[in-house]
Amino acid sequence: MSRQKIVAGNWKMNKSLQEAKTLVEMIINQVNDFDEVTKIIIPPFPFLDAVNHLISSKANFSLGAQNCHTNAGGAFTGEVSASILKSVGCDYVLVGHSERRQFFKEKEADFILKIKEALKNNIRPVFCIGETIHERKTDNHFKVVTEQLSSVLKEFSVAEFSKFILAYEPVWAIGTGETATAAQAQEMHAYIRNIVTDLYDSNIAAQVSILYGGSCNPQNAQELFKCPDVDGGLIGGASLNADDFCKIIFSF
Ligand code: 13P
Repeated sequence: MSRQKIVAGNWKMNKSLQEAKTLVEMIINQVNDFDEVTKIIIPPFPFLDAVNHLISSKANFSLGAQNCHTNAGGAFTGEVSASILKSVGCDYVLVGHSERRQFFKEKEADFILKIKEALKNNIRPVFCIGETIHERKTDNHFKVVTEQLSSVLKEFSVAEFSKFILAYEPVWAIGTGETATAAQAQEMHAYIRNIVTDLYDSNIAAQVSILYGGSCNPQNAQELFKCPDVDGGLIGGASLNADDFCKIIFSF
């Protein structure tokens, strides 16, 4: 079963417009011919349109957003809807990122509404899950990930779920320099695929791409991507540097 291989760069709240354009141009120059991997660029909202213009004609590049609102539109000052994102070329949106959970107190009910809005606008959700260090140390990581998945996926049909990308991002590995070992990543990714089998069926479980995120870098990407259930990476810090990001892409 060949699944979509993906390397996504989540820039978080970084870069200026000029820096964003330069970074994307440098990435395109290095990896444009390497089209077996889907490259998703996920910049801050104000750069989406400019990045889209640079990547739209390039081989297997896509645009993603870091967030969308739960509502379709209207009086929500400061927010951005899925339809606005679609109008500037987004095909993907992050939902459930641990920073949204931690700093913005987003919960399952928010993720469900956001994903519904994304799907209505033909945007594929990259649904992020992962345990904290406390949850891993107390041996609750499988339970936590099961709850994170089942509480949201129960609201979506198999046809809807076929648009999902999943990202396993252990909170203790995000921005810490501490990466899950390949064995830890593989163990959890296989576990996640089993949950998807239980919630839907084995066909859809075999098809869904599951990305690893958390201090993924050019040194560890190859080992992680060799794992049979790791279909790529959701990259934070290392996506801000063109050489590092491209080395990660070439790690497949
Ligand atoms: P880092 O790669 O900086 O650890 O961030 C991972 C992440 O949160 C991607 O969404």
